[in-house]
Amino acid sequence: MRDLEQFLREEGVSGALLDEVARFREQYSTDDSFRERIPAPACFYYGKAVWEKAIAALLCGENLLLAGPKATGKNVLAGNLAHLFARPLWNVSFHVNVDAAYLIGSDTYDGTKVVFRPGPVYLCAKRGGFGVLDEINMARNEALAVLHAALDFRRVIDVAGYDKIDVSPAARLIGTMNYGYAGTRDLNEALCSRFAILDMPLIARNDLLRLLGDTFPDMKETMRLQFAELFYELERKAESAEVSERALDLRGLLDAAALIRKGVSSGDALEMCIVNKTFDAYERGLVMDVIRARLPLDLDKAAVFDKTEVTS
Ligand SMILES: Nc1ncnc2c1ncn2[C@@H]1O[C@H](COP(=O)(O)OP(=O)(O)OP(=O)(O)O)[C@@H](O)[C@H]1O
Ligand SMILES: [Mg+2]
Repeated sequence: MRDLEQFLREEGVSGALLDEVARFREQYSTDDSFRERIPAPACFYYGKAVWEKAIAALLCGENLLLAGPKATGKNVLAGNLAHLFARPLWNVSFHVNVDAAYLIGSDTYDGTKVVFRPGPVYLCAKRGGFGVLDEINMARNEALAVLHAALDFRRVIDVAGYDKIDVSPAARLIGTMNYGYAGTRDLNEALCSRFAILDMPLIARNDLLRLLGDTFPDMKETMRLQFAELFYELERKAESAEVSERALDLRGLLDAAALIRKGVSSGDALEMCIVNKTFDAYERGLVMDVIRARLPLDLDKAAVFDKTEVTS
């Protein structure tokens, strides 16, 4: 894997910002015991403008809310940012039962006495980590009120029955939220106002071609183009409401390519990973038509991938 900072310089991300991040890394070292929490990127986030906005906001001490449709790289970017800033990462998956005790911590009996068992937000605040509040709008707003003081200028966490702890100057919270999924809610104004909000765009065409190349170095170039075209065709159809957004799924597109490489035909792979994401029979037919117009359904591995290159 290439070095992330090198990648960003090659992408043309502002050198001044990257230099400042380097100074941030020097200023805030990480305890050895938390080093393993600094995530190694499995892939890079593509999108120069988003990178620059995210880096600038974090350098200004802001907490970030990454908002956008599914599979727009929100978690990839959050992990990449923790790596770039060399911060340990705590991931908190939100759901309706998340409450203050889960986030901050709670009393527990250790066999001899009652002790405080810190939660992920407490640890992240204390250790100067990046806390990813994943799918933050899945939680009830009442449960999130506990974060208000941590997120605003006060930068404190009040642990009931214990002391207040100061949030480390290196700590940042990065929320992700997806509108449109069943079960998601709108974030209340008080919480929104405590984040810099980044609207996550759909990946640009050129970046998608490069992502396909990174993920599948052995994919034929003509096929990369066809896959990318199929994706944007689905986007156009979803935008004009001819099909639902369910079929517009980059994760599904990448999964389909992986299945083809395992020997599944193009039609079956795209059916499993794209078409069947809609549950309405009529709409499935429409999505299948879009695919059929772009790609033959009987392509096998040899038609999509070069035999000569890696097939891991
Ligand atoms: N701009 C991008 N750069 C790199 N990868 C991207 C980009 N957009 C989407 N992806 C790819 O899409 C897939 C999903 O990424 P990720 O899990 O970060 O999305 P997400 O926005 O968190 O989705 P969800 O809202 O469904 O949780 C990954 O394989 C990722 O590589
Ligand atoms: Mg996600």
